[in-house]
Amino acid sequence: MYDNVKLSEDETAVVILDQTKLPGKIEYLNLKTAAEMKNAIMTLQVRGAPAIGIFAGYALFVLAKSIPQTANFSATLKELRNYLNATRPTAVNLSKALDRMMNVARNTVKSSGKNREKILEALWREARLIQHEDVATCRSIAEYALSLVKDRQGILTYCNAGALATSRYGTATGGIFLGAERGYNFKVYCCETRPLMQGARLTAFELVEGGIDTTLICDSMASKVMAEGRIHACFVGCDRVAANGDTANKIGTSMIAVLAKHYRIPFYVFCPTSTLDLSCKNGKEIPIETRPDDEVHSGYFRERLAPEDVKIYNPSFDVTPADLITAIVTEKGVCRAPYGESLKKISAM
Ligand code: MRU
Repeated sequence: MYDNVKLSEDETAVVILDQTKLPGKIEYLNLKTAAEMKNAIMTLQVRGAPAIGIFAGYALFVLAKSIPQTANFSATLKELRNYLNATRPTAVNLSKALDRMMNVARNTVKSSGKNREKILEALWREARLIQHEDVATCRSIAEYALSLVKDRQGILTYCNAGALATSRYGTATGGIFLGAERGYNFKVYCCETRPLMQGARLTAFELVEGGIDTTLICDSMASKVMAEGRIHACFVGCDRVAANGDTANKIGTSMIAVLAKHYRIPFYVFCPTSTLDLSCKNGKEIPIETRPDDEVHSGYFRERLAPEDVKIYNPSFDVTPADLITAIVTEKGVCRAPYGESLKKISAM
């Protein structure tokens, strides 16, 4: 088990496990400046919706500490919040975590005046709370996940929604790891997840390290393994869930959902309630990140794969329509259609 995001001992940096180097190298980075932090989010050195939120909490605390005494603290904090928030648009956990931090700062000013030490202490506590909550959340999601599958079944997962993308256990992989602790033997198929290979590099790494029976497949093999009867459930994470249950996750997820419906395989989405965004009416309102062309034309290939003149389209996420989703599993329980009602109810709990 690796610490993917933590505070340095002297609390002047956020320490992350550089996910772009996995699985070949275990390399930690000490990030001190806003530019380094922004770069880490944008280049996916830290990634996965909950992990980005956890990172953002610690990042804002570290940056708040370095605001000069002469500067307007609240105004500078707001600028830093906006700077970090303008990195990746799809995962709502980023803005939600930053907003939690800003609220705490505001409330501390209201209750204790502009006492810098008190504000910093409150920011530190909130950042730790965001991380600790996620550990408990993933554990609870894992329990619900286990109620949906049986020992020895085949599970297909997509992208990486494991401990690297969260804190412990992960969301989509939570049930798999918890099951392993309890003696279940799942057969997990993980899709490589073009173009950045989070499945091949990260999920396969985590599952194999956890002693899980893991088979890596190219994304284009999903239909074949489903047709062969190897898959009994699909487990995926998500970056934002709209009020009607439409769900954004890594590009290609909706393709898996369409296939699952065709082969009558249940398709489960796992997320903390912090990933619900009921202010988005449906998937059309979810902002979808578009990423640099080179990820597609070159990416992990030794040399450029595609011809120079070809046009590239590189959306990083897609939206799975609610009617393809068997259930949305959160730490508070399992939501089923009609999602308009079940998600509202679970959010109010
Ligand atoms: O671009 P990434 O690697 O940050 O995308 C991550 C995903 O799509 C995950 O499935 C999602 O964030 C859920 S992580 C628990």
